[in-house]
Amino acid sequence: MKSEGFRQPFIAQGLYMTSPDLAQTIQEVRDKALEELQGLASEEELESWRILYLGRRGRLTSVLRSLGSLSQEERRVVGAQANQVKALLEESLAQAEGQVKESRIAGLAQEEQIDVTRPGRSVALGRFHPLTQILREICDAFVAMGFQIVEGPEVEWDHYNFELLNIPRDHPARDMWNTLWIDYRDEKGEQPMLLRTHTSPMQARTMERMKPPVRVIVPGKCYRYEATDATHEWHFYQVEGLAVDDGITFADLKGTLYEFARRIFGADRRVRFRCDYFPFVEPGVDMSIDCFACKGQGCRICQETGWIEILGAGMVHPKVLEGVGYDPSVYTGFAFGLGPERIAMLKYGIEDIRLFYSNDLRFLRQF
Ligand code: DAH
Repeated sequence: MKSEGFRQPFIAQGLYMTSPDLAQTIQEVRDKALEELQGLASEEELESWRILYLGRRGRLTSVLRSLGSLSQEERRVVGAQANQVKALLEESLAQAEGQVKESRIAGLAQEEQIDVTRPGRSVALGRFHPLTQILREICDAFVAMGFQIVEGPEVEWDHYNFELLNIPRDHPARDMWNTLWIDYRDEKGEQPMLLRTHTSPMQARTMERMKPPVRVIVPGKCYRYEATDATHEWHFYQVEGLAVDDGITFADLKGTLYEFARRIFGADRRVRFRCDYFPFVEPGVDMSIDCFACKGQGCRICQETGWIEILGAGMVHPKVLEGVGYDPSVYTGFAFGLGPERIAMLKYGIEDIRLFYSNDLRFLRQF
């Protein structure tokens, strides 16, 4: 009975000899427990398993309790067996818990995995609208020649848009500007309001506020009651220019606008001035540049003429100077007005003015 064989190997036949039923039960509990443990995958399941076998009322615990009914010798042997099984189950549980935890972390890592070697996502960069770009370029050219940038209201009085520009109410010259009128008048009920048809009203507004020398450019939005087509929009930009001082001559006008043309369209540009009519200048001109596409040979862009008209200009009319309280016998000046859409269309070969305002990214991304 007391041979070495009793304790080793662990499941010795000797056990059956001392208390076959209890030893058998311990074996069964052990096998069942280990088998069940195999299939468990969550922490909750493992906890239920622990309670079932190792808890205070667990199956193995009950076996341990019943040891008291055995003889001392049997208790020693079966007790040792039971304690070994208990240790085995605890160890197996710890192992299973470790595995469950590990695979949970692995799962998380997989879900939230960051591969630091992957190339980054490129940030979508914004850019300026082509018109903003050309407006800046035009303004820069004049600022470099000493002009100052001013801006004015897009909703304007008849007084500034027409009257102070030597275009009286009943004058047929008004037909040059198809006007969008606003249903509103000043307090006296005399002044019609409108959407400015050009940036020229800022000539008078500027001179009213400044003493000569005046050198300003006015970029801004204008509106006209027009049907749209490839070269007409009912809203568009203009850049107005005005220089007034004593002793300003037509040579200053020519020199300034020639320099502007070279800065925007290339240093080898040539310019041509021809007579034109605008009520607020005398003499009035239009300026053309030689066609940069065909170098003056004649092509589609210059409509076979070799020249491209880019702006209107002239010497400020004495009536305009008088209107703002400048003495025309002391001060002279020149003014000009140009359309940045047209400049951009020429410069970039854009064929339809409406593209500037249609928000088509395929168009906008080209600039
Ligand atoms: N305001 C004119 C227009 O809208 C353009 C213009 C022509 C402006 C001659 C000027 C100028 O200052 O001198 O058609």
